[in-house]
Amino acid sequence: MLSNQADGDKRRSLHGHWSSRMAFILAVTGSAVGLGNIWKFPYIAGQNGGGAFVLVYLVCVVLIGMPVMMSEILIGRRGRRNPVATMKLLGQEEGSSERWKWVGGMGVLAGILILSYYSVIAGWTLAYIVKSVTGAFAGASAGVVGDEFDSFVSDWRLVALTHTIFMGLAVFVVARGVERGLEQAVRFMVPALLVLMLVLLGYAISSGYFGQGVAFMFTPDFSKLTWGSVLAALGQAFFTLSIGMGAVMAYGAYLPEETSITGASAAVVTADTSIAILAGLAIFPLVFANGLTPGDGPGLVFNTLPLAFGQMAGGVFFSTVFFVLLSFAAWTSAIGLMEPAVAWIVEHFHKTRAQATVGVGLLIWLLGFGSVLSFNVLADTKFLAGTIFDNVDYLTSNIMLPLGGLLIVIFAGWVMCRNSTADELGNSGGLFKAWRILARYVAPIGILLVLINAVR
Ligand code: PFF
Repeated sequence: MLSNQADGDKRRSLHGHWSSRMAFILAVTGSAVGLGNIWKFPYIAGQNGGGAFVLVYLVCVVLIGMPVMMSEILIGRRGRRNPVATMKLLGQEEGSSERWKWVGGMGVLAGILILSYYSVIAGWTLAYIVKSVTGAFAGASAGVVGDEFDSFVSDWRLVALTHTIFMGLAVFVVARGVERGLEQAVRFMVPALLVLMLVLLGYAISSGYFGQGVAFMFTPDFSKLTWGSVLAALGQAFFTLSIGMGAVMAYGAYLPEETSITGASAAVVTADTSIAILAGLAIFPLVFANGLTPGDGPGLVFNTLPLAFGQMAGGVFFSTVFFVLLSFAAWTSAIGLMEPAVAWIVEHFHKTRAQATVGVGLLIWLLGFGSVLSFNVLADTKFLAGTIFDNVDYLTSNIMLPLGGLLIVIFAGWVMCRNSTADELGNSGGLFKAWRILARYVAPIGILLVLINAVR
């Protein structure tokens, strides 16, 4: 889907360009929709008390996520290089400093760290495809499903094996070039995932506990809201939209000049948020129907959805399809996580795409063992935020992404001159003004406020 034909752009990307507006939207949506929506959102919402967290998350998506995403795309398209080189180039071009390259550098690092644990959880979903096909959940009770999960994650060799398989898959696609196959995969995956979430929603509605699930998600109890949970909501907004680390910037580098950045961002944000909300609506009724606890942590999806499938007609089929789709969703996100590092190595060290991908993949695979062992051998080794997995997750989602996002909006809103941004966003009156107010004031002040209060 990346074409090398000239399309009249002022500056060209080394890696080619998206063939159409739709190709770009699909790629960014593929990167955004992933484990963050279906695995992470429900359990983080559960741990942070539900309603008030969800509300703060939605506010963060609209007031901070949107302007950061638009800023990343416009910076990416203007620079047309990997995030490190783009920030360096624009830093100079806009009369500031080449030190802005460190924002890109932090993004490269964040992508590597996130994928080190993301791949482990994606490995769980691969294992759950096998469990689904073999009918492990047919008619199973909450106890059986829970034991199945516990015995799986406590076997570090199995977890390491599935992590290895997933990293192999990720390296395979990224090495071949982002263009081939990815567009088709996303074109099919996102709608299919939506349909299956609706099937699950239907089941949740019939469970008799739908009202309780909805109340948990949408009745805000602000007494439960701490700065810590506000930071978790902000971090989740960044994580789920794939922003703050240059992934969207890297994708923006391949975007044709005439595509509307505002329209593309709105489409991605809407698709991503709808899938997360649907996941919550499907999962929380099951939590209450089966006497489980919403704050149980990373195993939540794996302990709830198989229960629904186990009781559904055609459950083996639906469950298999669901975990296949979730693996696909994780796969297209993994590509986004690797892209900044790979594009940087290709451009900076003049390596081939295949060499860069294999190198980055090996590093991530190795780092991933910290998270593989966090659920078994090293489960009791806790420091700062908890296990190694907890720490890598906290550092990336709650610190690095918001900090990256803060610097990106400051760059787009304050360092870049008005004409440069107006040129990219199309100076279409109201929308441009709204973006500028959000990028210059609302987003930076919001992020700073949360970071300062939560990390103190
Ligand atoms: N947005 C992805 C998810 O919700 O699963 C995770 C992610 C992908 C974060 C790509 C960052 C990124 F660059």
